Amino acid sequence: MRIGVLGAGMIGGTVGRLWAQAGHEVSFGVRHPERLRSMLSGLGGKATAGSALDAVAGADVVLAAIPFRAWPGVAAEIGAALGDKVLLDATVPDPPRDGAFGDAALARKDGVAFAVALLLPRAKLVRAFSTVMWTTLQSQAHRAGDRIGIPLAGDDEEAVALAVRLASDAGFDPVVVGPLSQARRFDPGTAVFDSGMSGPQVRAALGVA
Ligand SMILES: NC(=O)c1ccc[n+]([C@@H]2O[C@H](COP(=O)([O-])OP(=O)(O)OC[C@H]3O[C@@H](n4cnc5c(N)ncnc54)[C@H](OP(=O)(O)O)[C@@H]3O)[C@@H](O)[C@H]2O)c1
Repeated sequence: MRIGVLGAGMIGGTVGRLWAQAGHEVSFGVRHPERLRSMLSGLGGKATAGSALDAVAGADVVLAAIPFRAWPGVAAEIGAALGDKVLLDATVPDPPRDGAFGDAALARKDGVAFAVALLLPRAKLVRAFSTVMWTTLQSQAHRAGDRIGIPLAGDDEEAVALAVRLASDAGFDPVVVGPLSQARRFDPGTAVFDSGMSGPQVRAALGVA
């Protein structure tokens, strides 16, 4: 699959690398692609870097792993190219770093996912990879026994199925929580967020099958 990854930092770099190692074609979208040269050389030609627009235009599915405060500008840049593609959203507001846009998202009663959904209303949005620290993703991917749980929520059935496959390919246990309105159940401040729970532990905490 051709995956565009917006951001190649702790989360984007880690998950993108895991997908490249699983055989996917990964295209990182960043402001400074030249800085990724040494990282890409370790991925055997499975990954490239360019602008955010390049990454989205050539992708079947996109993972967003940018600072939350960057969303208004990035959404304006990629919105037309993204269209109704599947968007996996790992971004989380982190106050005070993410300013008024982050604060407003955290104050929403319906969950932070909808702050992004409003910017990109045509995209098939799935919250994914938003709850687990990058160090855990990096060190625990494909581990033996119960894998780390990745809660997922989205309204489009096929988009959620794609997210399930990609979370599994990256070496984790996908946990489908429900439609996008349920993503608030794993937002910052919930028991699941930043807990390092395994898939079975996430299912038990959220009461999902
Ligand atoms: N770190 C974690 O453990 C963790 C866990 C769960 C969720 N998250 C969320 O995932 C997102 C990414 O976090 P991270 O820790 O991976 O961040 P990071 O290490 O700072 O990486 C951010 C990446 O975004 C790129 N970027 C693209 N457009 C940008 C813009 N307009 N402004 C700034 N950077 C831009 C940066 O590259 P250029 O500077 O070259 O553009 C960089 O590659 C955040 O929303 C965070 O809350 C993080």
